[in-house]
Amino acid sequence: MELGLRPIPSDVKSPLIEVAANIWTLKADNFVYYRPPAQPRYPYTHRTVVIRLEDGSLFIHSPIALNPAIRNEIDALGTVKYLVSPNHIHHLRLSDWSAAYPDAKLYASPGLPPKRKDLTFETTLSTGVPEPEWEGQIEQLNFKSWNGWLDEIVFFHCQSRTVIFTDMIMDFDPEMFSGISRVTTRWNQMYRHSPRGIQLVHSFGRESLRQAFANVQAWEPEHLIVAHSPWQCIDGRVQVLEFLKTAFDWLKPQPKPIEAALGVARFSTLTLLILPFHLLLVLTADIVYPRLVKTETDKSSLA
Ligand SMILES: [Fe+2]
Repeated sequence: MELGLRPIPSDVKSPLIEVAANIWTLKADNFVYYRPPAQPRYPYTHRTVVIRLEDGSLFIHSPIALNPAIRNEIDALGTVKYLVSPNHIHHLRLSDWSAAYPDAKLYASPGLPPKRKDLTFETTLSTGVPEPEWEGQIEQLNFKSWNGWLDEIVFFHCQSRTVIFTDMIMDFDPEMFSGISRVTTRWNQMYRHSPRGIQLVHSFGRESLRQAFANVQAWEPEHLIVAHSPWQCIDGRVQVLEFLKTAFDWLKPQPKPIEAALGVARFSTLTLLILPFHLLLVLTADIVYPRLVKTETDKSSLA
């Protein structure tokens, strides 16, 4: 069976790439450098998804940096009305877009408002009930478990039958990484799968994730956008379903006592091993080492 992987074309002149009728992706030229728990810092490709609603208004999912070329293309599509953060990691450029489109409403992901006190949100998206502004055109679900550490709102564009995942699934291009990072990203399951760190965050209470995944399948999506991937989208109802089932194989139900024991093991691994190592890594690699290097540079500049 063909995998249905539709690559982002390398020779496009426009920053906007059409996925289907009234839905586009907007790929950033640069990377975001992010350190997952206890991992090297990786270059992340990232993107926005733009959906045009029936009244010509635009729903902007996870905005990337705005520049004049992007703004021209967006303005030609419709009126920017809704700026949406799908999870509390994807929020950095909301302020750029809010400044450019002051009449647009901002929608927070769970956990975001305390991080972005500089922004005024219309509401925090936290349920599977679509907002009245896009009800009947875009469905939504909250992928959450027990602690709210990394809830993600997953969206479904009804007209094109496109489902949009942000960080719950990743599928990087290994060519982007150094040899050591290819090893660590494989360990972290960042290829056509939920990253290991996300699985550990959801140590307990996975029943709600299973229900959310069942609801995604009930949407019967025909296209799948995975934000961190070299693919414009995955095409085909069967292909999307197979991709999702592989990505979420860690949600397979277990007998209750085993599920409870595994939950304890996962949470212990996260809190006693991975997070302390992560803190040590941040302290040495992100705080102490850059200061040492700066000191050496300063010394040499004085010589
Ligand atoms: Fe992300």
